[in-house]
Amino acid sequence: MTILGIETSCDETAASVVVDGTTMLSNTIASSMQLHIPYGGVVPEIAARSHIESILPVIKESLLVARQSWQDIDAIAVTKGPGLGGSLLIGVMTARTLAIIKKKPLYGIDHVAAHVAANFIASSFLDGYKFPESVPNFPLLALIVSGGHTQLVLFKSHTDYHLLGQTGDDAIGEAFDKVAKLLGLPYPGGPSVAKAATNGNPDAFTLPIAHMNSPYDFSFSGLKTAVLRLAQSQIGETYDFPSSKLPDRLSEAQKNDIAASFQCTAIKTLVEKTKQAYLEFAPKSVVVAGGVAASTELRRQLNAALLVSVYYPDIKLCTDNAAMIASQGYFQATSNRSQSYLEDPFKLVPNPGLSM
Ligand code: KG4
Ligand code: ZN
Repeated sequence: MTILGIETSCDETAASVVVDGTTMLSNTIASSMQLHIPYGGVVPEIAARSHIESILPVIKESLLVARQSWQDIDAIAVTKGPGLGGSLLIGVMTARTLAIIKKKPLYGIDHVAAHVAANFIASSFLDGYKFPESVPNFPLLALIVSGGHTQLVLFKSHTDYHLLGQTGDDAIGEAFDKVAKLLGLPYPGGPSVAKAATNGNPDAFTLPIAHMNSPYDFSFSGLKTAVLRLAQSQIGETYDFPSSKLPDRLSEAQKNDIAASFQCTAIKTLVEKTKQAYLEFAPKSVVVAGGVAASTELRRQLNAALLVSVYYPDIKLCTDNAAMIASQGYFQATSNRSQSYLEDPFKLVPNPGLSM
């Protein structure tokens, strides 16, 4: 079964052709990230406008790279949420229109569940991908961490999943981006904080870990504020000192130590809760997905905390892409409830707040 996946939930316009959920024929991505750099975060209107410009060329390119014509495509899978409303709308309306014109079945996909499907893409003729030697087994515990998500989810199968917990405020990647901005480090913040942290001492400062009512929920906004207060106190200023002036006053060494201490604490929060869920639910596999899966500190701490080997997709499949959407589309289309996943191409609407 050959599926065309379409993804536009944030700042990546992506299309991909995947066979049987596992063989990737193309993975085309146009990112508007460069346009958001001056603002230190994704600007929804800019992202949506850029999706409009890119979506048709991206789909065309992905069919071309996959050497597939519309006749070869068995179904279309599109991200219906969660994500930015304006961005999702472009992908959904494009998928609806194509499903009607080309007479293809249409599947609406939960972007967060699809991040896990990326672990099942096992081969490709495309250069530059590293695939794991085996695929994860169910039940599996998934830690989904990116600029938009921080979720712990238990999957009994590809389509039967249960949200254990999630962030009540900032996503983990968002916290990295905000701390980077505060320290005057470039966007996206994850890699730049990680780089500064390599020259800093993670034990230089003790930062708070939020304790939530539910054991698997997260909160990062208090940690972010604690970093702000720490930076202000390091230069001898009070809480009303403007954060925009901090980068000029902090020394390189102070920035590195703050970055290292923040990174260590933020990642520790993820790892402790993942370990607790692992002990409670005894899954056969643990998978990590989302842009923050690139973090070497996360990989180091998880390896030390868990006795099982942890699955990570290739980094190009960790960050937002449409191959994972096409793959999840296949698993929905072939599940015993496949009819319930079929969308009416005249009616499908995006759901920005879609929750698992
Ligand atoms: O999955 P992704 O590409 O897009 C979203 O759906 O958000 O994830 C991007 C996020 C950004 O917030 C970025 O700062 C973070 O992933 N990130 C990292 C690292 N590399 C990227 N966070 C921590 N450590 C990293 N090494
Ligand atoms: Zn994502």
